[in-house]
Amino acid sequence: MDIDLLSPTSFAAGQPHDQFAWLREHDPVHWHEEPNGKGFWAVTRHADVWAVDRDFATYSSGPTIMIADPLAESGTAFGPYKMMLMMDPPEHTAFRKLIRSEFTQPAAHLREGRIQALARQIVDAVIDKGECDFVAEVAGEMPSFVIAELMGLPLDDGRELYKLTETIHTAPEALPPGAGGQAVAKMFEYATGVIAEKRARPADDLASKLLACEVDGRRLDDTEFLLFFLLLVDAGGDTTRNLLSGGLLALMEKPELFGWLTDDLDARLPAAREELLRWTSPVIYMRRTARRDAVLGGKQIREGDKVVMYFGSANRDPETFERPDSLSLARAENAHIAFGTGPHGCLGQHLARIEIDAMLKEVLGRMTAFELAAPTEWLPSNFISGPKAMPVRFRKK
Ligand code: HEM
Repeated sequence: MDIDLLSPTSFAAGQPHDQFAWLREHDPVHWHEEPNGKGFWAVTRHADVWAVDRDFATYSSGPTIMIADPLAESGTAFGPYKMMLMMDPPEHTAFRKLIRSEFTQPAAHLREGRIQALARQIVDAVIDKGECDFVAEVAGEMPSFVIAELMGLPLDDGRELYKLTETIHTAPEALPPGAGGQAVAKMFEYATGVIAEKRARPADDLASKLLACEVDGRRLDDTEFLLFFLLLVDAGGDTTRNLLSGGLLALMEKPELFGWLTDDLDARLPAAREELLRWTSPVIYMRRTARRDAVLGGKQIREGDKVVMYFGSANRDPETFERPDSLSLARAENAHIAFGTGPHGCLGQHLARIEIDAMLKEVLGRMTAFELAAPTEWLPSNFISGPKAMPVRFRKK
């Protein structure tokens, strides 16, 4: 089996489940060469991914969670600053605590009514057309609007920020030179305006709260705010979108599941949503760096080695899931780790679940007879998985 988990070609039609299956069976902690780097360990079994993600004492999130990230590796990305996603406890714990209360299950549920109203508005905008790009016009709208509302920004700005996220998450080789850096710069330029606006007119929103809160007895400085802003906009955008469009695509490929789900949508949605999370696993990987020598899956890991956790592979591991290659919407036991686990386990997962449920209820409740109007185009990324564009035809119920 040819293994290449770097080339965007391997991800051109979704995640390379054939390669993952081979690796889980024959070489679950696999040494993977890198053309322009020192190589990395590809971890593909559920138990190993779970163990690495929780063992922050051995596997650090710094200096970066990307396989190739020269600026972060050389310490020149943001000077002495880093995003919370790249921190380890106890620093990580202190930063996460600043925003944790906004993302608890009860806090997320307080937003449920508003999210449902946004879902209605999004479907209203396409329902009479009979055809749309499901990614841009439906799935992408929800996370863009929700992050804008959370931060206290105009909804249209959320859409623009989301386009920048998409560029940031695209493999550099699939972009014009410098485009990724320019997108980050634009995001920072926008967030700098947010700092001025929210300092002048603080409101009841997350941006104002972040500017007012303290870490180690002092206020966050501008760069710390910019990095939080980038993380929140980045983390919740194309992940949620890809779950929704990847989920609909999976249902279109198995039309019999549509009828089963819509027969009793409210009751069947929770299990179905978890199964779609397992099935699509929008975050392909997170990288860690060994802080000390360790043994993993019988392999000797050396201090400084890159160790990459493949969530999409873990979520198809036959040791953990019965019939892992079958999309089983009623799956009762579902220990998927699409949201990761351990100290960095997705902070937005309660909110994401509410967004997903609201959209699926609107889409499946009001639209029917979905079919692809053109072949699906996948994101050219080895980091975030999902359709880039998915033109669909449908009927109004
Ligand atoms: C289907 C949607 C989503 C998926 C699949 C997803 C997945 C993930 C994953 C895999 C991680 C890393 C976990 C780890 O390293 O163990 C993560 C972290 C994170 N996610 Fe999500 N996410 C989603 C939606 C969201 C949303 C809606 C938000 C917020 C608006 C969000 C905010 C975050 C943040 C802030 C982190 C970093 C947490 C930390 O470093 O402590 N995510 N997410």
